[in-house]
Formats: sequence, structure tokens, C-alpha cells
Amino acid sequence: MPDLLQQISDHFATAVQFHLESASLFDYLSLGGYAMLHTFQATEEQLTARNLKRYAITHMGKVTPDAPPEDINLISPLIKGRARHEIKAQERTQILQRAFKSYADWETQSLELYSDIAKQLSDNGDQASYIFVNKLVESVNEELHIVKDMMADLENISFDMVEISARQDTIAEKFLHKLKTLYADMPDYHHWNSL
Ligand SMILES: [Fe+2]
Repeated sequence: MPDLLQQISDHFATAVQFHLESASLFDYLSLGGYAMLHTFQATEEQLTARNLKRYAITHMGKVTPDAPPEDINLISPLIKGRARHEIKAQERTQILQRAFKSYADWETQSLELYSDIAKQLSDNGDQASYIFVNKLVESVNEELHIVKDMMADLENISFDMVEISARQDTIAEKFLHKLKTLYADMPDYHHWNSL
């Protein structure tokens, strides 16, 4: 079912774009921890998209061509071309709230798409592809839970920017470590080559 996998492949291109744009938005807000979180997610999802393409080739002999990402239009409507020193404190908080809301919305949309495709693969009797896509469903589900927990935590502290700023170094360290681990845990080439 390469067309179903193509839909996921296309969505991943936009997913990576979403995380890259979010990373820039959080750098703009001087919230380096969240920028590192999105840098990690962009890299992790780019590697997952590569795995998906390898799966389609090795199991079906089909290439899922790379599609350009959709315009996710996250930053422009929020900052309207302004330099960050032109953003007042209250608006900075609002942009942070919008960025997290967009993140939760994006992952919810991804979860629905992947779940729907997993179901179709199962209905079609393509068990191997179902197992592959179901891992993506679990991964997005976990990511969405983490985002919602972070949002609930931010609500609890009433989006206190002093507190949020103070936490950024710890968050950045955590996701930088995850980023380094991501590459360190990649399988050796001989294993990779025999997927
Ligand atoms: Fe994601």
C-alpha cells in the first residue's frame, strides 16, 4: 500500500517543517529550552521519515518521493515581521501560549491521520505495514501526552515568564542529551543495510 505510506511520508515533511519553525519561534522568544525540544523533534522525525522510505523500498520495492512541506504558517501571523525587542511582555506570553496550542493541535492532527492509515492497513491485511505505522501512532501519542503535560504545567504556574525562563537551561540540556543519544543509538550499518 505505498499510497498510504506516501501520505505519511508527505505529512512527515510538513512535521519536520513544523518543528523547525517552532524552534525558530522559541529562539525568537529567548526560550532556548523549547527551541532545543523542537530541534530534537525535527531531527527525530526526519530520521523516522527516512526509515519509512527505507521500509517502502525494502518491503515493496516502491519509492515514496519527497514532497515539499506544506506552509504551516506559524511564525508570520504571530510576529508580523517585528524584531523581538518590539514585542511587549504580555504579547510574548500570548505568543508562547499560541505556540504550545499549535503544537498540541499539530500532534492531534498527526495522530488522527496515522491512526486512520494504520486502520486501513489492518483492514487491507497488510500486517507488516500496520505494525510499522502503529509504532508511529504510539510515538505521536506519547509526544502529544508530553505536550499536554507541559501545557497543564504552564497553566498551573499561570505562564509565569520569570519561572519559565529560569527552567530553559534544564530543558535545553535534557533535549540536547536526547539529540546526542538519538545518533549514538542508531544501528550499525550492517544491521541498517539488512532491514
Ligand atoms: Fe512531532
